[in-house]
Amino acid sequence: MKHQDIKNITIVGGSGMMGVGIAQIFASGGRNVTIKTRNVSKCSAVEDMSSQLDMFIQEGLLEEHRKSDILDRINITADAIEAYENADLIFESVPEVMDIKHATFKEMEQYARPDCIFASGTSVKSITEIAEVVEKKERVIGMHFWNPAVLIPLVEVIRTEDTNEDVFQASFDLLEDCGKAPAKCMKDVPGFLANRLQHALWREAFYMLDEGIADPKTIDDCIKNSFGFRVPQLAPFENADMVSTELSLNIHNYMFEHLYSGTEPSSKLKELVEEGKSGFATGEGFQKWTQEQAAESKTNLFKYLIDQTKYRRKQLEEA
Ligand SMILES: NC(=O)c1ccc[n+]([C@@H]2O[C@H](COP(=O)([O-])OP(=O)(O)OC[C@H]3O[C@@H](n4cnc5c(N)ncnc54)[C@H](O)[C@@H]3O)[C@@H](O)[C@H]2O)c1
Repeated sequence: MKHQDIKNITIVGGSGMMGVGIAQIFASGGRNVTIKTRNVSKCSAVEDMSSQLDMFIQEGLLEEHRKSDILDRINITADAIEAYENADLIFESVPEVMDIKHATFKEMEQYARPDCIFASGTSVKSITEIAEVVEKKERVIGMHFWNPAVLIPLVEVIRTEDTNEDVFQASFDLLEDCGKAPAKCMKDVPGFLANRLQHALWREAFYMLDEGIADPKTIDDCIKNSFGFRVPQLAPFENADMVSTELSLNIHNYMFEHLYSGTEPSSKLKELVEEGKSGFATGEGFQKWTQEQAAESKTNLFKYLIDQTKYRRKQLEEA
C-alpha cells in the first residue's frame, strides 16, 4: 500500500481532545475522515474543528475558501460497519487504558478490511502490547501526535517487530503528505523518541532542584535562554558536528559521571503531589501561580506555537 491509497481514514475516539485535531490534519490533507463516536448527538467535533479552522484563517494559516472543503470531508457515526468497512487506515484515539485499547482493536479487526492499517495514538503504552489482541499484527503501528496536534509538527511512527515495512512507510509518507514532520521510531521502546529525550532533561532539571543547585524558575530560564533558545535550529548531533566530535567527547568524558542516572522520581515532585500542589490547577506546584499568570503562560505558549508554525511554513515554502 502507498500513501496515495490511504484515502479513507477512521478515527475512533475522534471527538476527544487529540482526535479532533488529528481529524482536521487528515481532512486538510485531502483524506475523507470518519469519526467513530459512541454518541453522535453529543459529538461536537465539527463545531470544535470549525472554530479551530477560523483561528487558522484569522492567523493567515488557512485560506478561507478551504474551510468548507475540509469540513465536508468529515463524517460522524456510531455505527461500526459504517466506520470500519471502507477504511484504509483506522486511527485509535481512545483513553490511555489497555483494556479499552484492546476492546477497540478487537472491534476494528472484526469489521475492517484485511489490508486496513491500524494505528494507535497512545502516548506511552507499548504498541506490541496493544497489538497482542490483533490477529494480523503486521498491520499495526504507533502514530504518536503531540498536543496540540494541529500546531506541533512531529508525529512519531513506531514499528513493532511484526510491522510490515510497506505499512510503516505508507504511514510515514501519509503524515508527510499531510504537512507533518514524521519521525521513524525503529523499535517499540517506552517513551518512543521525543518523550525519552524530553524526560532525560526533566530528570536532570528536577535532580538539580533536589540538590539545591538552583530554584525552579532559574532552571527553567537557563533552558529557555541557552540551548533552548537555539534548539529549534541546533539539536545535539548537528551541534556536536559544529563544535567538533573531539570537543563533544572531551565534554562527555568529564560530565557523564556527574549527571543524574537514578530511576527514582524527584523527592520534591513526590512531596508536591502528597501535599496536593498540582500546579496551575491549584495555584501552586514548583512555583506559585495566580489564575492570571497561569492563563498568561498558556496564551504565551499558544502565540509562540503560532509564530513557529508561520516560520516553519515559510521555511518549507522557500525550500
Ligand atoms: N492529551 C494529550 O496531550 C495526548 C497527547 C498525545 C497522545 N495522547 C493519546 O491520545 C489518546 C486519546 O487521548 P485524549 O487526550 O484525546 O483523550 P480524551 O479523553 O479527550 O478522548 C478519548 C475519546 O475516546 C472516547 N472514549 C472514552 N471511553 C471509550 C471507550 N470505552 N470506547 C471507545 N471510546 C471511548 C471518548 O468519548 C473520547 O472521544 C490516548 O491514548 C492518549 O494517551 C494524548
